[in-house]
Amino acid sequence: MASPQATETEIQTRVADLMSWMTVEEKAGQLTQYFTFPGVTEELENVETEVRAGRAGSLLFVSDAAEIDRLQHIAVEESRLGIPLLFAYDVIHGFRTAMPVPLALAASWDPSLAEDCQAIAAKEARSIGLHWAFAPMVDIARDPRWGRMIEGAGEDPFLGSAMAAAQVRGFQGDRIGAPDRVIAGPKHFAGYGASLGGRDYDEVDLSDSELWNIHFPPFKAAIEAGAGNIMSAYMGLNGVPASGNKWLLTDVLRAEWGFDGFVVTDAGAAADLETHHFAMDRPDAAVRALNAGVDMEMAPPFGGDAAFRSLPDALASGRITMDRLDEAVARVLTMKFRMGLFDAPFVDVAASERTLATAAHGDVALRAAERSAVLLRNEGGLLPLSRDIGSIAVIGPFADAARDTSGPWIFRQDDSETVTVLAGIRAAVGNGTRVDHSVGVSVPKRLHPSIFENPFLPPTPVIEVDDDAEIARSVALAQEAEVAVLVLGEAEVMIGEHASRSTLDLPGRQQELLDAVLATGTPTVLLVMTGRPLDFKGAQPTAQMMIWYPGTRGGEATANLLFGDAVPGGKLPYNWPRNIGQIPLPYAHLRSFKPEETEMRYWNEPNGPLYPFGFGLSYSSFDYANLRLSSDCIAVGQSVEVSVDVTNTGVRAAEEVVQLYIHQRYGTAARPVRELKGFNRIALAPGETRSVTFPLTPDRLRYWSSATRGWVQEPTTFDIFVGGSSQGGLATVLKVDALA
Ligand code: NOJ
Repeated sequence: MASPQATETEIQTRVADLMSWMTVEEKAGQLTQYFTFPGVTEELENVETEVRAGRAGSLLFVSDAAEIDRLQHIAVEESRLGIPLLFAYDVIHGFRTAMPVPLALAASWDPSLAEDCQAIAAKEARSIGLHWAFAPMVDIARDPRWGRMIEGAGEDPFLGSAMAAAQVRGFQGDRIGAPDRVIAGPKHFAGYGASLGGRDYDEVDLSDSELWNIHFPPFKAAIEAGAGNIMSAYMGLNGVPASGNKWLLTDVLRAEWGFDGFVVTDAGAAADLETHHFAMDRPDAAVRALNAGVDMEMAPPFGGDAAFRSLPDALASGRITMDRLDEAVARVLTMKFRMGLFDAPFVDVAASERTLATAAHGDVALRAAERSAVLLRNEGGLLPLSRDIGSIAVIGPFADAARDTSGPWIFRQDDSETVTVLAGIRAAVGNGTRVDHSVGVSVPKRLHPSIFENPFLPPTPVIEVDDDAEIARSVALAQEAEVAVLVLGEAEVMIGEHASRSTLDLPGRQQELLDAVLATGTPTVLLVMTGRPLDFKGAQPTAQMMIWYPGTRGGEATANLLFGDAVPGGKLPYNWPRNIGQIPLPYAHLRSFKPEETEMRYWNEPNGPLYPFGFGLSYSSFDYANLRLSSDCIAVGQSVEVSVDVTNTGVRAAEEVVQLYIHQRYGTAARPVRELKGFNRIALAPGETRSVTFPLTPDRLRYWSSATRGWVQEPTTFDIFVGGSSQGGLATVLKVDALA
């Protein structure tokens, strides 16, 4: 019998042997993943029937250890061949211990932190019997109306690739089947982040240049890091639905990148090929998905019929081949063997309890929340606050909202374990400090209900107040306090999947609350709980910090930042527009016939962002000096080193994210004004200077050219910039000669 340590040859022998016993119906079954959803018993009975009959290869959304164990016993003991099930789940930023949301982890610019967080998520998930996380989401997002921006690493392919690879390593460890780890499933292949108008699930049209240079790199990085699975996207890409797109799923993924794991569709995306009016009917949809390169269908949610049930008929009528069917089945079974499921399919329910929400996991969540916060304003050095401050008014609908503090896409948390901002501040100050609290305004509501209300926990408490009276009370509290701390943003159901918005305004009456509190003149710290840039209509709080959805220990982390036990060091993973009309506004845009330095693009609005990509303040300050290249001139194919000296010129130990950008001055195609090509988050003691060196290798100097329709590295001149954001910094010039 194969074991997790079995060699690949042993595994392939075992897979071939098993497949020789399988009926066509059982093969189609291995390629089908069924949804289960709490409270939908009829569905569960259907699922059990399918498992018993050997017509299900995988289940998703079962997330209770005893239930996973029970269903696995049915598969192993009651189905004809006893093939164990793969259990999959959306483990996006933690299972029980909520880490900051993925966009926040990207804002830490610390891939090793993201790796640590996902390793803990994997450990908790694996302990309850899960084998596979539908994560990381590696879609590049340049339109903040799109709610799913929060699940990714923001707008940049270089940062996105680093975060993608780190998360895959976190989920999987050094190999598929490593103890306490799960299979990673980077998603959604490909281009989902560019949906028209930021509307979720809408069509996507992207040029080849955008695909190869911007949207593909994080997927490629995830695959190079060993990802065992890829999820195909819902929407149409350039007119062909992604989940029936052979160019994507076979030509690019397999032929170009050599991906050897398995491809699953997004939920119902195979059957949806019919909805797209691409496939004639559902059986045709199954044929098209399989033939395009899908290996497993995630069945439509809520009891929907799996399209892959019709694969045996498709085989009989010659619309699919046995070879293609076998190829897909072998990929799925190989994963099951690599995960060791044939040796150890069951769950140690008691042990799982000891693994969830340990203090050590919470400590990583705390560190992650501290490291991902981004300080945007700090007029007069208001922050950090003194712990001995006499009084603080903590105001806002998210100041004491545990569910929102955990963020979207986490379902199995325990709200009582979550530290809110209010609780964090209360615990941090001494007895001499008075802390008053008001919710400020009712928690705003969505126009349409979310399909993502947590199915496992009681509904989020509805907080409804008399807004006028509560705003007046908040103003009174702010007037009496030495400092007001406002916690505003978006409820967690307002962001994530099925949560796009047509505005970046603060939902509900929060803007009125903000303006009223600022009008008191009391120094005010605005803490923003969300995962996209918002438009505060020019309001100028004394200090402002993005805390994102900071997770289980988020409130404690926020208090540590407010009182200076932690120093903010995060940087924005996206350009922050001045208003919604500027979207999309990527920092890495092309020049034009009238460069933006000389020409206003709108007559009513400056060209640039409110805050640039890569921006974030510290309680300290940094000086950059002595930018140098190991050689001013290289030949195509050669590497160069870029070095700079960074000094902490403040009085506090602090961290700075040193960033390297390039701009190619001429070539077969025009290139962006700046492109990130290196970063390094460094810690510096007060007065300390460190030299930071970045390799600039040929793969960082090349790009996919629309002119030559391929990857090129060209003789040209590059501007090289190094600094603490995508604007300003030190500059030098690198010449690249043709090969002699
Ligand atoms: C749909 C989402 O698009 C995908 O990201 C998720 O993994 C599946 N549903 C399963 O919940």
